[in-house]
Amino acid sequence: MKFFVDTADLDEIREANDMGILDGVTTNPSLVKDEGNIEFHEHVYTICEIVDGDVSAEVTATDFDGMMEEAHTLAQVHENVVVKIPLIKDGIKALRALDEEEIPTNCTLCFSPNQALMVAKAGADYISPFIGRIDDIASDGMTVIEEIVQIYDNYDFDTEILAASVRHPTHVKRAALAGADVATMPFDTLMNLLEHPLTDRGLERFLADWEAYKEARKAEAGMSS
Ligand code: E4P
Repeated sequence: MKFFVDTADLDEIREANDMGILDGVTTNPSLVKDEGNIEFHEHVYTICEIVDGDVSAEVTATDFDGMMEEAHTLAQVHENVVVKIPLIKDGIKALRALDEEEIPTNCTLCFSPNQALMVAKAGADYISPFIGRIDDIASDGMTVIEEIVQIYDNYDFDTEILAASVRHPTHVKRAALAGADVATMPFDTLMNLLEHPLTDRGLERFLADWEAYKEARKAEAGMSS
């Protein structure tokens, strides 16, 4: 499973990348807004220079021509850019056209298997089902992931399933069990994957015992000299 970090914060992206397990980054207009007064394309370029992997950057036009124009500009920013297209009618047309131009795409705001089926037929590189937002409306985001995995397997679609709107480690585990290709998650969730109280307790014990062992050796050496 590939791990993407879902943020436009450069410090977080650098820290995640330094661990050596980061495969890419996803951004969206809300995450870009959180960064304050930045120039969007420059910022996307900087992210692409930090991470050697796919970096999703979203168009904000909602008509075919506008999306294509923004997609062409974004694709020029860096070879790692994956153009994020919203899952609407003109978006499907844009996904098909961009596939023909070999510009990589990530279709965002997916909430149902039928939407994902449409997107795979349009030739998108990634489909982003939003697990957390589905859970938020008292439905089951993970069932949507499982059903998309099954449908894509049935028809051998190449579109990669990018589990998005991931809110906690259990989302990551269940998306991995379901066979999602990628999980994109906030930096804090990525760090939380490491956490287990028994790891902390076990390490504390090992280090204490190591100190005791060294003290005993020192005492032994003192006695025999
Ligand atoms: C994915 O590409 C989106 O940026 C993201 O996962 C949305 O997550 P949210 O629902 O927590 O905003």
